[in-house]
Amino acid sequence: MKNISVIGAGTMGNGIAHTFAQKGYKVNLIDISPEALEKALATIEKNLDRMLKKEEITEEDKVGTLSNLCALTEISEGVKNADLVVEAATENIDLKLKIFKQLDKVCKSDTILASNTSSISITQIANVTNREDKVIGMHFMNPVPIMKLVEVIRGQVTSDEVTQSIMELSKHLGKIPVEVNDAPGFVANRILMPMINEAIHTLNENVSSVEGIDTVMILGMSHPMGPLQLADFIGLDVCLSILDVMYKGFSDEKYAPCSLLVEMVKKGKLGVKSGIGFYDYSEGLKNKKVAQQFLIK
Ligand SMILES: NC(=O)c1ccc[n+]([C@@H]2O[C@H](COP(=O)([O-])OP(=O)(O)OC[C@H]3O[C@@H](n4cnc5c(N)ncnc54)[C@H](O)[C@@H]3O)[C@@H](O)[C@H]2O)c1
Repeated sequence: MKNISVIGAGTMGNGIAHTFAQKGYKVNLIDISPEALEKALATIEKNLDRMLKKEEITEEDKVGTLSNLCALTEISEGVKNADLVVEAATENIDLKLKIFKQLDKVCKSDTILASNTSSISITQIANVTNREDKVIGMHFMNPVPIMKLVEVIRGQVTSDEVTQSIMELSKHLGKIPVEVNDAPGFVANRILMPMINEAIHTLNENVSSVEGIDTVMILGMSHPMGPLQLADFIGLDVCLSILDVMYKGFSDEKYAPCSLLVEMVKKGKLGVKSGIGFYDYSEGLKNKKVAQQFLIK
């Protein structure tokens, strides 16, 4: 595989594009929003500068990575030469089905179509295409250039050959792939999201403060960051969508999103990407403070 197209240039899309481009793949990064593309390229450059400063890469690597990237707003234009498409658009089932229908029409017949979805059924996505055996989940973790795991999700009819090539490709990217079967939330979010949701319930019921809850999980469970901070990094809208998919998929109350999460998403408090969530990032990530709404009076 040489040509990779990444659809969606948000939190995940920019990291996925960065990772492929740094390994020498030609990457078309596609988003309907020119602003999102602009922001993504700026983020990639900033992240490369940070790596350069830490001497993890050379100036040549930085220039090479940037020259492997091309930003586009048209899917049909951006995927026509792709060997692999990695879809990382907004976590919304109707949107993803629409995108995969279009990809199936405009991509070469042997192009593998992967989704970075956190929770939506790969089998259901594959069903809207005429290449169900070539549709697979490639679930990267945030931040993509740093996190080692890729959950590789087989739909019901994903072929062994396609699974094997995605496992190998993930290793070539310097990642550690784990093959899992298709079920709502797969493995990572099936376990993570109930914990985040429970942390939000704990806050909503005033059992402890934002910092209290995060500190308990950092110091008590040796987690590298607390669940509320992690939710802010993932995006509260993304957390809500994943919980909704699991709630509907399993018809089980235990996955019902906490009302506080629903309310925050409605108000546009989405975490780091909107500047405010459980923490306030208006003075930058390093100077984050607990959001005004959660300060104990
Ligand atoms: N945020 C995380 O930590 C995380 C981790 C793993 C997987 N994911 C999954 O990755 C996917 C993307 O999540 P994100 O957090 O990057 O979301 P995001 O909201 O940061 O970015 C989504 C991007 O998709 C673009 N988009 C929407 N419709 C489009 C279309 N029709 N064509 C092209 N682009 C379109 C939007 O303009 C936006 O820039 C989701 O499926 C999510 O579940 C997220």
